[in-house]
Amino acid sequence: MNLTQLANPRILDQPVYTPGKPIEKVAEQFGFAHHEIVKLASNENPWGASPNAFEAGKRALEKVHLYPDGSGTFLIEKLASKFSLSTEQFILGNGSNEIIELLGHVFIKPEDEIIFGEHAFSVYKLVTLLMGGLPVPVSMPNLRHNLDLVLEAISEKTKIIFLPSPNNPTGTANSANEITTFIDQMPDHVILCLDEAYAEYLEEPPDVRPFLNFGKKILCLRTFSKIHGLAGLRIGYGYGSEEMISLLQKSRQPFNVNAVAQASAIGALEDENWVLQCRRRNENGLKQVEEGLRNLGLEFVPSHANFILVDVGNGHKAFQELQLKGIITRPMPSELGHYIRISIGTELENEKALSALREILPKIADL
Ligand SMILES: Cc1ncc(COP(=O)(O)O)c(C=O)c1O
Repeated sequence: MNLTQLANPRILDQPVYTPGKPIEKVAEQFGFAHHEIVKLASNENPWGASPNAFEAGKRALEKVHLYPDGSGTFLIEKLASKFSLSTEQFILGNGSNEIIELLGHVFIKPEDEIIFGEHAFSVYKLVTLLMGGLPVPVSMPNLRHNLDLVLEAISEKTKIIFLPSPNNPTGTANSANEITTFIDQMPDHVILCLDEAYAEYLEEPPDVRPFLNFGKKILCLRTFSKIHGLAGLRIGYGYGSEEMISLLQKSRQPFNVNAVAQASAIGALEDENWVLQCRRRNENGLKQVEEGLRNLGLEFVPSHANFILVDVGNGHKAFQELQLKGIITRPMPSELGHYIRISIGTELENEKALSALREILPKIADL
């Protein structure tokens, strides 16, 4: 008997998340210096972390011989005061990805139906399959989550609905009114996971806190990977009712969030001005990219986040051709094969990406 035969059969068919290649490898493969590569592939913050977050992380490095605070006490206190919720209403994760997985561990039983938009963030499906749940993709007319269609998809077997707003990779968002109306109509046996990874890019993100203490089963997810610029440290958080959080706490590792990440996240929260500045810069970057795309005659999906889905006709070819020019973007799965996703970079990076796009377009049209 070999190892594969011993494995849980579910694992054998489990799809694997494919991350992009490291900058160093792309530079080596295509003959660029590292600093010449423009990486617009993972929706990171091109201006980096706040100097306050960076300094706090450096100080924490001096104590890395100690285990981190396994309860994330100080960060959770900060979050509780920022959101005016209790400390029992927060959980930290090794990226918000980890909390999606914890949600799966706690709630998904084989054959439970898990609803998400057909073009929603890919990890929802991966976690559903990993736990033996049944993915129920819902169509997204105009690449937007239509919450009436989501409601229609609910059955007695539905356990969780994942709703990212703004959504990755489409950049589309639902209004506060749409989301609260949806929550009002959600049946009692269903859990909503509202993924707010890009919420800080919205001028006024929907606020579902009033529902948390009134029996609605909601988990909100946030991350320090996007506007806070700490993607490399892997830290995110969830907030919900105390009952929801206490269940999730049971399924996490004792020291799931490292000390440098916790310290940097506190530093990031203290620098609200940095978040504001990055939101403004991103808005300007989006305008710059949208205008450039219009000039190139390319259609795109209007975005509420720090990336944009661009219709280039043949996404894989465009991705490859752009890579030859040192620009890394994200090709899409076959259902969105016309598109590439481009993260918003600094003004210079956006300019380089647009001019590379201009050069490669005739080659894609040739196909
Ligand atoms: C919608 C959405 N949710 C969650 C995540 C996970 O972020 P992280 O695990 O870095 O916190 C991402 C990352 O790209 C995302 O796009």
